[in-house]
Amino acid sequence: MSFKLKRSEFDHFSGLASEWWQKNGKFKTLHDIQPIRIKFIQEIFNKKNLEKIKILDLGCGGGLISEELAKLGANVTGIDFVKENIHAARIHAKQNNLKINYKTLNFEKERINSKFDMIIIFEVLEHLSNWKYFLEKIQFNLNPNGKLIISTINRNLLSKLLTIDIAENYLKWIPINTHTYYKFIKPNELEYILRENNFKNIKFKGLEYQPLKKEWRLSQMTRVNYFCSCKLN
Ligand SMILES: C[S@@+](CC[C@H](N)C(=O)[O-])C[C@H]1O[C@@H](n2cnc3c(N)ncnc32)[C@H](O)[C@@H]1O
Repeated sequence: MSFKLKRSEFDHFSGLASEWWQKNGKFKTLHDIQPIRIKFIQEIFNKKNLEKIKILDLGCGGGLISEELAKLGANVTGIDFVKENIHAARIHAKQNNLKINYKTLNFEKERINSKFDMIIIFEVLEHLSNWKYFLEKIQFNLNPNGKLIISTINRNLLSKLLTIDIAENYLKWIPINTHTYYKFIKPNELEYILRENNFKNIKFKGLEYQPLKKEWRLSQMTRVNYFCSCKLN
């Protein structure tokens, strides 16, 4: 009998570093949802211009979110543990004349020393070895009243069907083996840990694909992909 071992999260993302800025490549879905993500962030600040706001983009990959925020005037730091991702992010930012502070660092193992007005953790928690412990630590990197925004995937049969069976294995919208079902996070589990760690104003929004219109939109349906926003007490 042969077993196919799942590659580590690190190896998985190392193998995809050249894909970040291919709009129709392996990260097409992230490019497609980009406008919704940016609008969601702007609505949290209640303004379009993010000038002088200090933002940390954790697990920034090739810098898709970091760049958009820098274009809106934010002072952005992007961190990722895959050095090829940071390399791709730096080159792309340079081509676009954007000043972004990129760092290669494993934030589950190493310390981040600065404090920020906002921390963004998009599509990352479900890849960590211990997201609960990680969220305990992250509050110390926020300024008073600092905001935290997370996007991740709920854990239930529908989310498994849509994100792993259909989006990964059948439609190939997402690279195969990107997700592991047991690492998905239910909104009530996330809410509990956030409350335990001094976060308040915890709100959820769903991110939903409408197959007939071939469009993504924000909704109240959090059974699959969802956003969570909150504020440090
Ligand atoms: C699915 S990608 C999301 C990229 C980006 N946040 C976005 O949504 O456009 C997850 C990223 O998290 C990074 N990552 C996962 N675990 C990490 C860790 N412990 N330290 C730093 N980066 C990590 C991966 O290398 C990968 O680039």
